[in-house]
Amino acid sequence: MCPRQGRDPGEGITTPVSKLTLESGTVVIRRAVAADVPRLHVLISGFADRDRMLHRSLNELYENLRDFRVADRDGEVVGCCALHVFWADLAEVKSLAVAEGRQGGGIGRRLVEACVADAAALGIPRVFCLTYEADFFRRCGFHVVDRCRFPRKVWSECVRCPKFFDCTEIAMTREVAVAGAGPAAEEAVAAG
Ligand SMILES: CC(C)(COP(=O)(O)OP(=O)(O)OC[C@H]1O[C@@H](n2cnc3c(N)ncnc32)[C@H](O)[C@@H]1OP(=O)(O)O)[C@@H](O)C(=O)NCCC(=O)NCCS
Repeated sequence: MCPRQGRDPGEGITTPVSKLTLESGTVVIRRAVAADVPRLHVLISGFADRDRMLHRSLNELYENLRDFRVADRDGEVVGCCALHVFWADLAEVKSLAVAEGRQGGGIGRRLVEACVADAAALGIPRVFCLTYEADFFRRCGFHVVDRCRFPRKVWSECVRCPKFFDCTEIAMTREVAVAGAGPAAEEAVAAG
């Protein structure tokens, strides 16, 4: 067996990493591909127009395509979530959305878990989010923190946000178990 098998970096681009069987069908969590972007834009814009989350332009979505996981229900994208790396020890879980009519079935949680698994595979020990949905993220293992804990985030991205001076998002964080990740583990795998 290939030593990398099951560790994600070697997976095919549309290989599902998590499968969820609902009454209404099977949902797989997979990496996003370029063809998903128009649908992601519609999904996110629908909530952003109602101030439920921040807008993402098409350009931003294409530029950050590799950050994204999608929930695919029989070929239809019904959810998305991204992991954006900030520093050696910190990444943001962002742009989480589940289509209305598909909510409440565990898809949001699966998307978050897929992003947390990405952070673990990258050797990043902490993820955070800025959210209006604190209760949902609490159920996903996050806890509230002072946003001043994340100065790089505030000064790099937030200053460009139109809501910077009137922001009501809640900062939350979750520790990530990264045992076995990192360069030492990679060398050990390579050495067999
Ligand atoms: C927030 C959102 C992603 C949740 O997705 P979902 O698929 O409905 O969530 P899940 O079914 O995986 O829920 C997981 C758990 O959180 C709970 N939960 C879900 N949404 C919740 C909410 N708004 N408030 C409190 N708890 C919530 C569920 O009851 C479930 O609880 P359990 O631990 O008892 O099983 C979805 O409602 C959504 O897309 N909202 C609009 C966009 C948005 O607000 N995005 C977040 C931007 S940061």
